Amino acid sequence: MNVGVAKEIKQDEYRVALTPAGALELTRRGHSVVIERGAGDGSSFPDNTYTAVGARIASVEDVWAESDLVLKVKEPLPEEYGRLREGQVLFTYLHLAASEELTRALMDSGAACVAYETVESDDRALPLLAPMSEIAGRLASQAGAQFLEKPVGGRGLLLGGVPGVAPGKAVVIGGGMVGYNAAVIALGLGAEVTILERSIDRMRHLEEVLGSRVTLLMSSALQIEESVAEADLVVGAVLIPGALAPKLITREMIGGMKDGSVVCDVAIDQGGCVETSRPTTHSEPVFVVDGVTHYCVANMPGAVPITSTKALTNATLPYVEQIADNGLREAIAEDAALARGVNVLDGQVTYEAVAEAHGLDYTPLHDVLPLTPA
Ligand SMILES: NC(=O)c1ccc[n+]([C@@H]2O[C@H](COP(=O)([O-])OP(=O)(O)OC[C@H]3O[C@@H](n4cnc5c(N)ncnc54)[C@H](O)[C@@H]3O)[C@@H](O)[C@H]2O)c1
Repeated sequence: MNVGVAKEIKQDEYRVALTPAGALELTRRGHSVVIERGAGDGSSFPDNTYTAVGARIASVEDVWAESDLVLKVKEPLPEEYGRLREGQVLFTYLHLAASEELTRALMDSGAACVAYETVESDDRALPLLAPMSEIAGRLASQAGAQFLEKPVGGRGLLLGGVPGVAPGKAVVIGGGMVGYNAAVIALGLGAEVTILERSIDRMRHLEEVLGSRVTLLMSSALQIEESVAEADLVVGAVLIPGALAPKLITREMIGGMKDGSVVCDVAIDQGGCVETSRPTTHSEPVFVVDGVTHYCVANMPGAVPITSTKALTNATLPYVEQIADNGLREAIAEDAALARGVNVLDGQVTYEAVAEAHGLDYTPLHDVLPLTPA
């Protein structure tokens, strides 16, 4: 198969969807790999590291035109919509529930669009979201601690405190991959950490791994209101797979928070779980509402591309190999986890939560198969 890697054009996005190590695996399997010029630069993989393993370097036009399978990191932007074509497979993060415009553009393209974030195993794990969630969770507490500093508009509080002075309070809403990792770093910094979860099984697991160092509370509107009012740092880390994030923190609750406290809404890529959130970028990561600093960067792992490119491709490569070796149709027939990743196929929305988010018709994947062979 012709596998192409497009350069990311989203602001401050430095990741790339395939490392030279991954390119070598694919060329060894007999696939042709074409990389857009400069695609790996931001992750410290210059073009010659790809040509050294048998990949070709090409222009943006050639990569999109030649490739049966296009690998990306972030969702296509409007200038990329027209590059997609029927019969092509796009494998990337899509977060379609957050954008009707993108969903419609993908439907119009006729391409098969497989979203990293909805690839889901039978035990409900999200293997392609997990590595980025680990990174985003860790960054959330780092960023939160930084924006609590006075010169950048924070309360002027050291999250970890010092002997004789109480630490700050970090409240994490959603104790999944992001929440667990945010809690680990906040604990490491010395903060007092509370996690609000709605899954009792998940809380049991968190207690096993984190012990008594965290307070675990059942998530409810009342509990969120109480916890948020006392917090110095709030990390929003809930997820309902594929769906828009529920607005668990209302404008009123933000109004009840301490002046100079920080909300880090990691769930912003699914629309955000805070009513006052809107997406921000690494160049302008924060804004203030009612005295509360909002950090809402939609592509947090993009800030640490050397770590996140490797972590992402470690997870995606086995699926890329399956699609390249067998074609998408056979690959999804053999792997139910990958099949759950298919969001748009032959102009139909095949992921129920995305269709629901935009009031579009939902067509189950098996109704659209057989696929147009790539
Ligand atoms: N901004 C970024 O750069 C970035 C990067 C990675 C992930 N994310 C986003 O972070 C969010 C969390 O991802 P994740 O991998 O941790 O997901 P996850 O599925 O591992 O965890 C989500 C957790 O939220 C819990 N939850 C659901 N509803 C809840 C509620 N009402 N109250 C409390 N908890 C609730 C679930 O039980 C689950 O444990 C997602 O929206 C994901 O897309 C953002």
